[in-house]
Amino acid sequence: MIEAKSITKFFSVINEKGLAEGLTAVLNVSLTIQDGSIVTLLGPSGCGKSTFLEILAGLQAPTDGEIRIDGKRVLEPLPSTRKEMEAYKRRYRFISPLANGVFRDRPKHDIAMIFQDYAVFPWMTVIGNVNFALKLRSAGKEKLSRAERNERARHFLNRVGLGGAEYKYPSQLSGGMRQRLALARALSVEPKIILMDEPFAAVDALTREKLQDDLLRLWEETREREFPVIMVMVTHDVSEAVYLSDEVIVFSPSPGSIRNRIPIDIPRPRARTDPALIDIQDRIFGMFQYDLNQESDYSI
Ligand SMILES: Nc1ncnc2c1ncn2[C@@H]1O[C@H](COP(=O)(O)OP(=O)(O)OP(=O)(O)O)[C@@H](O)[C@H]1O
Ligand SMILES: [Mg+2]
Repeated sequence: MIEAKSITKFFSVINEKGLAEGLTAVLNVSLTIQDGSIVTLLGPSGCGKSTFLEILAGLQAPTDGEIRIDGKRVLEPLPSTRKEMEAYKRRYRFISPLANGVFRDRPKHDIAMIFQDYAVFPWMTVIGNVNFALKLRSAGKEKLSRAERNERARHFLNRVGLGGAEYKYPSQLSGGMRQRLALARALSVEPKIILMDEPFAAVDALTREKLQDDLLRLWEETREREFPVIMVMVTHDVSEAVYLSDEVIVFSPSPGSIRNRIPIDIPRPRARTDPALIDIQDRIFGMFQYDLNQESDYSI
């Protein structure tokens, strides 16, 4: 279970006059996400979705509030290079590490993140990308031999339909294949949580629908094992959100806070043309329209 408690993120930025100015990217977001569910975050551009997702992943620290996964607090990763250590010391100069638990309560949650732009490493082959993730993973957990890593990598590449493309480079793949590679890499480490920031934004509509179905199929498979995976996905696509999710979280325009939580209780497999789904889509479009011009053609 993921619990976000009153998350606020404040940035200071330099404005055109050269003066420091505050910007609230995320404002007081509280949210609970149950194991084995798919939740999408939907909202206008710049409302803080990516920022919130990175806070969930522990890649950014919230200004206020905390994230807990299975009751354990998520913290920023510890510095791994000297340069990061310098920055870290500067940031925490006034806080005793023991007092705020920075060092003690270090989380070991299994979170995989798929970024929109640089989801895979272009200088590694397809199988090299998956092997790399497995290598990082086995540093912290069970140790896998090279042969075991290769076997597991091939298994997950087959699952996403990339068997036979192992020794290609990402530049030789289509956009859809690259996203499937990112998915294989995320799944191969058997995470509890997969966070995705607009994973299908760069592919055409037909490929996108195919990828959505692949994603659902892979998610269903994890439900049969002992680790039902949580998927949290940022998207701009209302129909994608409604088709995939157990719950759609609609963010308000900046500063991002939760505008509505819309549970989608329609059993899977779902039909994209199901009137009940279309009805929910219309309600969400209505909310966006209302936020833009304070009136709407849809009842909300
Ligand atoms: N490191 C940063 N420093 C200063 N401001 C930032 C930083 N990161 C994000 N912001 C600001 O925070 C706000 C939210 O950004 P964020 O990237 O989370 O939005 P988003 O909802 O993901 O938008 P999009 O849908 O366009 O991807 C924006 O106004 C952005 O300019
Ligand atoms: Mg974003």
